[in-house]
Amino acid sequence: MKFSRILGTGGYLPSRVMTNADLEAIVDTTDSWIRERTGIEKRHLASEGETCCDLAEIAARRALEAAGLHPADLDLILVATTTPDQFFPSTACLLQQRLDVHGCPAFDLQAVCAGFVYAMDVADKYIRAGAAKHVLVVGAETISRLLDWNDRTTCVLFGDGAGAVVLGAADEPGIISTHIHADGAYKELLQVPGGHGNGRADLAKLEMRGNEVFRFAVTTLGRIVDETLEANGLTKDAIDWLIPHQANIRIIQATARKLDLPMERVIVTVAEHGNTSSASIPLAFDQAVRDGRIQRGETLLMEAFGGGFTWGSVLVRY
Ligand code: COA
Repeated sequence: MKFSRILGTGGYLPSRVMTNADLEAIVDTTDSWIRERTGIEKRHLASEGETCCDLAEIAARRALEAAGLHPADLDLILVATTTPDQFFPSTACLLQQRLDVHGCPAFDLQAVCAGFVYAMDVADKYIRAGAAKHVLVVGAETISRLLDWNDRTTCVLFGDGAGAVVLGAADEPGIISTHIHADGAYKELLQVPGGHGNGRADLAKLEMRGNEVFRFAVTTLGRIVDETLEANGLTKDAIDWLIPHQANIRIIQATARKLDLPMERVIVTVAEHGNTSSASIPLAFDQAVRDGRIQRGETLLMEAFGGGFTWGSVLVRY
């Protein structure tokens, strides 16, 4: 039986920082409102001309270095993104060219804020099926480009960044299980309605009914915790670390309570990063690996929720 194991992690945040105080000068908001309702203090934004692939490349190279592998060792490249550089080629193909590798499959995967969890599910299945030995999984976003900077209800919430992991085939898990779901019935609660396909490219800005999304996210993430534990016959105390999608500190706290986990066992980056969509989990993961909090052998629960709605989890023995 084959399993997949995490060999290395990497992350990258663009150098430009926007604080809540900076936002006060743009929209009718306050630092205290943003902190109290979301936990966000600042976010990083891609500079003009800096693209999703630029961020992805740095995160990917760092993950490869941590894994002790070269780009030529990869036999699958997956990029989870909602903000690709261009319609096509995919950001995964652009990244493949930057890494100077040729021939292995490379494709993007779009599940908005659950994109990284979806990509981990796909990568794990490729490895378990024997179709790949080394897979690069990147979550990378320039979500700031989809924001309406006149809309205080959304523009204060998001940031840009990229995170990456390299997975390798192993005799033992590694990835214990993945669980992904979607329900398109809720498409209107969180969306970018415009696109060339529907002739409304003029509507390419993010819209959200924040309150409804909040309630649905808390309930759904509670259920995915139960589903993940039950599928593996585990109890809450089996989880050493929660690595949640970083949308709002109150959503994160609700999931931690569900797991009876103290906040010291939860990796939280939302204050510094804001919501970086598909990049948020791999960025948080990389930070906690590099600062020594997460150790080999520990059990990690990653969970995410995003537009679609999409949601899911990854249970990992690191
Ligand atoms: N600054 C100041 N006031 C703001 C504001 C801002 N940036 N954004 C909204 N407000 C105002 C609203 O207009 C409203 O004013 P009113 O009462 O006069 O109408 C008030 O604050 C409360 O708004 P509400 O939307 O009820 O606040 P909330 O407590 O639900 O918090 C969110 C708003 C967006 C922070 C919260 O709903 C949330 O986090 N939702 C989930 C978002 C999310 O995670 N999305 C991504 C999923 S991947």
